[in-house]
Amino acid sequence: MIRFVGISKTYPSGNIALKDINLSIADGEFVFLIGSSGAGKTTLLRLLDRELAPTSGHVYIDDVNISSLSKNRVYEFRRKMGFVFQDFKLLSDRTAAENIGVVLEIMGRNRGEIEKKVKETLQFVGLTDKMDYFPVQLSLGEQQRVAIARAIIGGAKILLTDEPTGNLDPKTSWEILKIISDINKSGTTVIMATHNADIVNSMRKRVITLKKGEVIKDEKKSRYG
Ligand SMILES: Nc1ncnc2c1ncn2[C@@H]1O[C@H](COP(=O)(O)OP(=O)(O)OP(=O)(O)O)[C@@H](O)[C@H]1O
Ligand SMILES: [Mg+2]
Repeated sequence: MIRFVGISKTYPSGNIALKDINLSIADGEFVFLIGSSGAGKTTLLRLLDRELAPTSGHVYIDDVNISSLSKNRVYEFRRKMGFVFQDFKLLSDRTAAENIGVVLEIMGRNRGEIEKKVKETLQFVGLTDKMDYFPVQLSLGEQQRVAIARAIIGGAKILLTDEPTGNLDPKTSWEILKIISDINKSGTTVIMATHNADIVNSMRKRVITLKKGEVIKDEKKSRYG
């Protein structure tokens, strides 16, 4: 369970990004976060993995106030979470398999375990045949598959996605959505910030609408706009 309690965020520049956000998101939910550019979607996601600290209010994950976590605990806590961005953020000097495997390396898993899990995860995202390719040799959709594989390989319980189809053509966007939807069906909570109205309308999931840093709408089985 994720809870935002009285969350406000003002950037050091004075920009007010979020104002008194109160939200609960249950385990296994699929939530779209929509709203025009500058509404605060990315800021909200970044508060969840503690990349940003709120100016006021608290974020709770499984009843743990994440601002109270020590540095060591943050590291542990982030394992619960996968992040997928519009621009993939892959390591250009590593292959698809290495980009994914590095997560498990950092966790201290042994080589055999890493190889097995990397293969499984690449198969899940449909990229087994390109495992030895470098990012520059992959299409945008394939790069996004690698990024998704990297986000989930560590066993994330929460998947945060920030405009994951923003750079993709419609057909590829649907393929990526299918993968994200399958991840959700396996029990992972998914929060997806998006401007893609077609995807939101077809999925009929919970839609949270932000406007100028405030939640102006929050509806189950909803649509875009
Ligand atoms: N690092 C920053 N420093 C100062 N202001 C920022 C910073 N990041 C975001 N903002 C401001 O906070 C507000 C919310 O930005 P945010 O990136 O969360 O919006 P968004 O909904 O994700 O927009 P988009 O759809 O364009 O990605 C905007 O007014 C933005 O200018
Ligand atoms: Mg954004």
